[in-house]
Amino acid sequence: MSEQWISERARNVDASGIRKVFDLASRLEHPIDLSIGQPDLDVPEAAKLACIDAIRSGKNGYTVTQGIGPLREKLLRQVAAEYPDQERDLIITSGTTGGLVLAILTLVNPGDEVIIFDPYFVMYRHLVVLAGGVPVFVDTYPSFTIDPDRVRAAITPRTKGIIVNSPANPTGAVMTPEEVEAIARLAAERGLFLLSDEVYRCLVYEKTFSSPARWYDQTVVVDGFSKAYSMTGWRLGYAHGPKEIIQQMAKLQQFTFVCAPQPVQWAGIVALDADIGDRTEIFRRRRDLLLKELSDYYEIPRADGAFYLFPRVPWGTGSTFVAEAISRNLLIIPGNVFSRQDSHFRLSYAASDETLARGIEVLIDLARNPRRSS
Ligand SMILES: Cc1ncc(COP(=O)(O)O)c(C=O)c1O
Repeated sequence: MSEQWISERARNVDASGIRKVFDLASRLEHPIDLSIGQPDLDVPEAAKLACIDAIRSGKNGYTVTQGIGPLREKLLRQVAAEYPDQERDLIITSGTTGGLVLAILTLVNPGDEVIIFDPYFVMYRHLVVLAGGVPVFVDTYPSFTIDPDRVRAAITPRTKGIIVNSPANPTGAVMTPEEVEAIARLAAERGLFLLSDEVYRCLVYEKTFSSPARWYDQTVVVDGFSKAYSMTGWRLGYAHGPKEIIQQMAKLQQFTFVCAPQPVQWAGIVALDADIGDRTEIFRRRRDLLLKELSDYYEIPRADGAFYLFPRVPWGTGSTFVAEAISRNLLIIPGNVFSRQDSHFRLSYAASDETLARGIEVLIDLARNPRRSS
């Protein structure tokens, strides 16, 4: 009976790829887990204490939907320093995800086409579909760099906007300033919205981070505390952009999420002052270790940020390769969860040195000895 009540909207979200991986993984007791999308490092101590203090001192109620003044003002000062010539408004959200949901609901009408770069962070595709929009995928294989000519070719009269994510999940790719500028100028020229997910901007190694907002002031930016400060479960993020859009997002937040958790907002003020420089060093060292140990066995496109690599599988498809990896106790994610192609896999190095060393051993064995279990 209840089955028939399920909306088309919910049915249209296809989560079968990741479910298959979780089903396979659920049989493992202590997997070597290189599938994780959250930092293994702890929340800064000062932020923990600030959260406890906020709870103890009674800061537990709703806040205004746009977020508490001191956090909003602190973030607005950062944004104003980065974009001194722009008038940008800012809202505190429930994680970067909250910002993505509100931005997409604010910007996408049913039938609107939204350009997404493939491989993509899975949520973009699902959220566009939830809003009734049509994801249009622009391939970035094999190097995962964005080619403006491919974007231009994908634009139709129905195109409403473009979603960019640099550093990217699942590839770790970081766009160069020239690539970012080209996309920003193209969006401006064609009157498209640009939604920039900058949640990994704090984790960039060789290259430097650039935001399209520098060249296109209409860009809506979403960002958050999950990756920089390991606050994934605390649900704190923010979005900034043109006033009219941020105000519409605030209206929708009022009737959905209401506000980000209040104690966490107070802790966010303190987290912003935490030194996270050494985290970048830790992740860079791990990435370098993986590249050094695996490059003889795997083709690994350049990855200058976040904490992911997206190697090509040395045999089979992404799915068959990952099934074999899981049978050897290694948990990784097949590329088709993030892509229309099934030729790669995602490796997260948000894991301890010991886990990485064990993972490397299995990965080398997988490349050398394709099928042990069959
Ligand atoms: C690209 C990207 N955007 C957004 C998010 C969600 O972040 P949050 O925890 O702040 O909602 C993630 C989490 O994995 C991500 O990889």
